[in-house]
Parts: sequence; C-alpha cells; structure tokens
Amino acid sequence: MLQLQDVTKSYGAERPTPVLRGVSFTLQAGGFCALLGPSGSGKSTLLQIAGLLDRPSAGHVRLDGEPVEAVSPEAAARLRNRALGFVFQAFHLLPRLRAWENVALPLLYAGTPRAERRPMALAMLAQVGLAARAEHRPAELSGGERQRVAIARALVRRPKLILADEPTGSLDSANAAEVMALLRRLNQQIGVTVLMVTHDRDLAGQCDRRIELLDGRIAADSAPA
Ligand SMILES: Nc1ncnc2c1ncn2[C@@H]1O[C@H](COP(=O)(O)OP(=O)(O)OP(=O)(O)O)[C@@H](O)[C@H]1O
Ligand SMILES: [Mg+2]
Repeated sequence: MLQLQDVTKSYGAERPTPVLRGVSFTLQAGGFCALLGPSGSGKSTLLQIAGLLDRPSAGHVRLDGEPVEAVSPEAAARLRNRALGFVFQAFHLLPRLRAWENVALPLLYAGTPRAERRPMALAMLAQVGLAARAEHRPAELSGGERQRVAIARALVRRPKLILADEPTGSLDSANAAEVMALLRRLNQQIGVTVLMVTHDRDLAGQCDRRIELLDGRIAADSAPA
C-alpha cells in the first residue's frame, strides 16, 4: 500500500538540518499502524511525505505500487485525491458549511455532480454515527463530533489510505476513545488502511503495528519488514 525506502528529509538550503535520516517501512493494505515518537522526531514530516504534500530530499516512496518521485505536481494531486484521506488534530472544517457540506467538499473538488453529492455525504455521515447532525455547523457540534465529520470527509471518496496526524490530540479521553473505535471499525468494515500519529500509548496499543521514530530514524517497529 505504502512503501518508504531510505527516505531522508532536510529543511533549509544554507545549512540543511536533517529531520528524517533514512526511514524505510512498508504498510500492508488493510493494516492499522501507529506512528509514535517524541515531539520533533519527524512524525508530521513523514506523514506529509507519505501524503505527497511534500517531497523527500532523497529516497523512494511508492503509493499503491506506484513510484511517486517522478510524477508531476498535477499527477501527485490527482493521486492524493483518489487514494488518500487526511485527518488532522485541528479538524479543519469550514465553519460556514453544514456538516454534510463539509463532508461533500472533496466530491465538489472531484467534479461529482451536484445531485449525487448530498446523498453520498449523508450516507457517509450515517456511517460515522452522525446522521442526525447533518445540518449542524461545526460550532454546533462537540469536539468528538467535529472529528467524526472530518473522518467522514476523509473517507467520502473511498480512499485506500487514511493519514491521521494526532486525530485524538484535541479530544478528552472519552471522545478520543470513541474516535479511535470509529477508525478501527472503518478499518475493519471497509478495509481502509490507516497510519495514525499518536502520543497516546493506550491508543497505540490498540493498533496492529507500532512504528517509533527517534531523531528521524525508526527506533522500533513492532512488525519489521
Ligand atoms: N517547513 C519546515 N521548515 C523547517 N523545519 C521544519 C519544517 N517542518 C518541520 N521542521 C522541523 O523538523 C523537525 C520535525 O518536525 P515534525 O513536525 O515532523 O515533528 P513531529 O514529530 O510531528 O512533532 P510533534 O509531535 O511536536 O508534532 C522539527 O525540528 C521541526 O522544527
Ligand atoms: Mg507533528
């Protein structure tokens, strides 16, 4: 599903500072993997590279079998839209849009006809248990509900891989557990592969696999290649 081979990343042209120093791993389709590590160890950088939002300084990335380093920015954007869903700590919902309209946004960008967008968004909201909140705006939802809307938005185009950067980071423990259970259920029911950054050892313990970064290197991998 996702393969990183000797990925390095440095920031800064004058005095490049290495952030990732040779990271290699392969995620199998259908897996649920936690990415752990102290602040600054390179977790978000790794997710950005895996999500084709940034390029490695060196090394290789394959997504769904396709090498991505040679593709144009346009082709990368197409691949991203087709194959990937993103979930962030801060939800990133548009405040003026209703829950279903937020979920329908990726369909709008993909050119899905107007008449199909609302039923698809409503079906996705039902899958995350929010059918009754479809007309609410983000300010009228709890934190846990907002994140479930964001997860519905990430999944509405049926991506193969969800990249989640601390999806429970701004939630209390009850809501965090609920969001985790939802991701887990979606992973099992629809087979979407999940790579999730978390600082929470309990949540990481519920994943199939744990990869731990330390200073830009893999310090531990519970299921090494
Ligand atoms: N665009 C950038 N330009 C320069 N340095 C950057 C940039 N993005 C990240 N860094 C640096 O790279 C290092 C790794 O950052 P990254 O965001 O990947 O860490 P992280 O593991 O996600 O940390 P956290 O747990 O705090 O989110 C940090 O030292 C950070 O300052
Ligand atoms: Mg981060």
